[in-house]
Amino acid sequence: MTRSSAPGKVYLFGEHAVVYGEPAVPCAIERRAEVEVERREDDKLRVHSEDLTLDGFTVEYGGQSDERPDVDVSESLIAAATGYVDGAIDQVREVTGEESVGFDVTIESEIPLGGGLGSSAAVTVAAIDAATRELGVTLETDELAERAFRTEYEVQEGQASRADTFCVATGGAVRVEGDDCRSIEAPDLPLVIGFDGGAGETGSLVAGVGALRERYDFAADTVEAIGDIVRTGESVLETGDLAELGQLMNVNHGLLSALGVSSRSLDAMVWAARDAGAYGAKLTGAGGGGCIVALDPTEATETALKFTPGCEEAFRAELAEEGVKRLE
Ligand code: PMV
Repeated sequence: MTRSSAPGKVYLFGEHAVVYGEPAVPCAIERRAEVEVERREDDKLRVHSEDLTLDGFTVEYGGQSDERPDVDVSESLIAAATGYVDGAIDQVREVTGEESVGFDVTIESEIPLGGGLGSSAAVTVAAIDAATRELGVTLETDELAERAFRTEYEVQEGQASRADTFCVATGGAVRVEGDDCRSIEAPDLPLVIGFDGGAGETGSLVAGVGALRERYDFAADTVEAIGDIVRTGESVLETGDLAELGQLMNVNHGLLSALGVSSRSLDAMVWAARDAGAYGAKLTGAGGGGCIVALDPTEATETALKFTPGCEEAFRAELAEEGVKRLE
């Protein structure tokens, strides 16, 4: 039996635009997905999870990965999570040459599924890492990130950047531009997360931005403007000026909103954070629902979010210095 965990992440800047070759700066946070694998005698894959969501509904199911539990809103999310595990195990079979190996896989996650905190990347990275080690192979972090990226790329039908998978495999703050992925220095950021209890559909949100960008030059310009924010944000990260970082996050949120990927609840949480005195706030990840991230060293934003209609959960998130963790 082998266990690995990987952290979630927030985007400080650059989601969506990163799909079109602009840079993005995500950073890993101390909310983890843990995956335990055990090699089976046969070639079957059995996936079990009791808590694929942070709170709210809890889903229990076992059996073959193509058996679906009888659940309501979360069914498509569970199917998606199972798809990532299937894809991860395909990568494991390919990289180890053990074409017909089977596994029992158990997932425990503190990361809201599909909420923009990198849940799928964390599950994918941890699953590949644990399953390869179960077969006696330890991948270098770069290879692990690359294999996880290929998994996401296939599951999301070509609409994925390397940002999530590289960030959660490596930990800390990273900069991703195309296939150029590296770690960068970041100050200790006072991150506060607000979660609306829901999730956006990454595929259709990415496709929506793509269609807008094809159709209108101003949408393409907006994507490029997000790239400019990222480049400015990177140099501000070096100075640690929270007020300026917050301001750039606010503008980034406005541009994402212009591209149609915000939502009423995300906007409500962003405004609640700003009203509470946060340096800045923006949606994180694909949008459409899910999470916002704000910068606030005081308790004010967390408290305000807890009283904001549409916000189901608010919490402070520490930067995760370590990416994938090899547990046993
Ligand atoms: O919502 P998440 O955490 O899966 O992030 C999606 C980020 C996008 O830029 C919209 C897509 C991508 O793969 O980079």
